[in-house]
Amino acid sequence: MRRVIIAGNWKMHKTASETAGFVQGIAGRLSPGFDACEVIVGPPFTALSAAVEAGARTGIQVAAQNLHWEKHGAYTGEISAGMIKDAGCSHVIIGHSERRQFFGETDETVNKKIMAALESELIPIFCLGETLQERQAKRTFDVVSIQLKSGLLNVPAVNPARLVIAYEPVWAIGTGVTATPGQAQEVHAYLRKELAGLAGKDFADGVRILYGGSVKPSNAKSLIGCEDIDGALVGGASLKVDDFHGIIEEAIQIR
Ligand code: PGA
Repeated sequence: MRRVIIAGNWKMHKTASETAGFVQGIAGRLSPGFDACEVIVGPPFTALSAAVEAGARTGIQVAAQNLHWEKHGAYTGEISAGMIKDAGCSHVIIGHSERRQFFGETDETVNKKIMAALESELIPIFCLGETLQERQAKRTFDVVSIQLKSGLLNVPAVNPARLVIAYEPVWAIGTGVTATPGQAQEVHAYLRKELAGLAGKDFADGVRILYGGSVKPSNAKSLIGCEDIDGALVGGASLKVDDFHGIIEEAIQIR
């Protein structure tokens, strides 16, 4: 059974002090010894340590939102996987559509970043998804298949628990338009089939595939209730304790 993950992608929101208060707020609402699902928060780099500290002994894990694939060097403004690991993070979001759209990330750089994350024993949350134009041109499956295969090119075999995929249709991110459970499930099932082709059925059956794009408490259950949807990567609704906790509550009722 794949354990559900509810992960927050905070994007460029929250200072370190706001982060500490938020993580304490969520932790205060989870019962002691909570392990009904995995809860991950994804603050900006400057607030990672604050999140790790506030989340210690609560079970709340912390993800960075990006990394550079080199270990160190003259790369002004960049942060390596080792630095993120050292800050106490367990996960790192890689290939988010905003990074692809605004910061020139390509399938090739995404691939290098996934390798670097795995080498540093960080769990990549590997994002992929089609644009509205691509969906309208009926290219969704081709697009996600290319993104998946390029992102995982030459990636060594890992325990399936060490890789998380997030299907995020670009047209659903921050728009309030959510993919229907049917639309999302169809792509998730396809991705799992593609993963099985790449690395075998056991591996594919063990990888968590999250849905992302306008997830909120009111739609979380219908999405996460689908067979191949193993949780959510949440943007806007991960910034408010009530909403994020509401999504966690919906998720734990299902599985
Ligand atoms: P959203 O963002 O939930 O605000 O649509 C999701 C994401 O960007 O990961």
